[in-house]
Amino acid sequence: MDYTQAKKLLEKYNQTQLLDYYDELDEQSKKRLLCDIEKLDFSVLENIGSGQERKIGILSPADALSVEELDKDREKYEKVGIEAIKSGKVAAVLLAGGQGTRLGSSLPKGMFNIGVNKKLSIFEQQMNNIQQVVNKAGADFHIFVMTSDINHADTCNFFKENDYFGYNPQKIHFYKQKLAPTSSFDGKIYLEEKDKISLSPNGNGGWYSSLIEAGYGDFLRENGIEWLNIYAVDNVLQRICDPVFIGATINSGCACGSKVVKKVSPQEKVGVLCKEDGLPTIIEYYEMPEKYACMRDADGELTYRYGVILNYLFAVDKLNQIYKDKLPCHLAVKAIAHVENGKKVVPEAPCGYKFETLVVDIVRLMGTCLAVEVERTREFAPVKNKTGVDSVDSARELLKLNGVEL
Ligand code: UTP
Repeated sequence: MDYTQAKKLLEKYNQTQLLDYYDELDEQSKKRLLCDIEKLDFSVLENIGSGQERKIGILSPADALSVEELDKDREKYEKVGIEAIKSGKVAAVLLAGGQGTRLGSSLPKGMFNIGVNKKLSIFEQQMNNIQQVVNKAGADFHIFVMTSDINHADTCNFFKENDYFGYNPQKIHFYKQKLAPTSSFDGKIYLEEKDKISLSPNGNGGWYSSLIEAGYGDFLRENGIEWLNIYAVDNVLQRICDPVFIGATINSGCACGSKVVKKVSPQEKVGVLCKEDGLPTIIEYYEMPEKYACMRDADGELTYRYGVILNYLFAVDKLNQIYKDKLPCHLAVKAIAHVENGKKVVPEAPCGYKFETLVVDIVRLMGTCLAVEVERTREFAPVKNKTGVDSVDSARELLKLNGVEL
């Protein structure tokens, strides 16, 4: 694409500010910017002010297997889960394409050192958790790691430098998700540098379509992989390919399973698994009407009490039927570094949007979902912030409580 073509394209979308500094650039930078412009997906901007806010249908609480119920049949479920792992029907998918802006590190979140007296990265801690399952099942499984252009090289190198944390490198597969432009609140795409469009990962909702685009559809088929266990990089107590969870989900006949924890308060910032118009749905905390968030049963428990912890098991055959369906685009309000009046600014306060599709919206498309309650102090230690709630500090405390040496 040359300058004239780029200008014409940008005029069409009212985005000519992207060429404001073009004349100051050297030849290489000019080429780079034009190349970025050519690849831009302008369609995400249509979501701004489109009045497509989440409209909530008729809600009812989700049925869940409670911790007590799960305990009663633990052995039975575990046997089914171990059998599925042993026969190669299960693989894990680590969602590690996020930027971890709240944590404030420019490196992949999984590289963050959660150790105190020794080095222990989040990746290593999660791989240690996986090793426990492998030891129990007597078999390992494939792990797909989703990254983005922004952190792919760092992530792959870190695994390599650490000898894949003792795991079989042939069973770890890295693939990339897509990026989307960021914009100001009034829909102007930001420049990150004078010669570079500001792009950010397009959310974790595209994890399966990106896996297929990366060419792994045949791989899943040829290897007989029927179930994918999706998990977030930022929960250091994450139990991955937990045989009990796998067994319970397979036995239920549902197309997916979701680990849930009891919310600590109506205000806790977790998505809530419930039913909307009869279908399993996760309502994000900022979209949940207060009257439902605060509703209590006769025994005082929150009616909508099950918060999701981003650990799902999805049936591959159902994913193949639904993954091309359009997911809603969520506007994440964020502080975005950008060029303003010729200078780079790194604002503390939110100044615009990132455009994301979310894995939570896939649960609804799956049609049926088994909610499996787990004990939060044993399985939920998210590292979202530097300090305070869901932080490095709180995660370290929970790791210690679970006997992990730091
Ligand atoms: P979060 O929603 O916490 O986002 O991701 P984040 O990008 O890690 O952190 P902030 O909001 O910028 O501070 C939940 C999980 O989804 C993954 C993350 O890596 C994390 O495991 N994720 C998020 C992706 O894989 N891709 C994305 O585009 C966004």
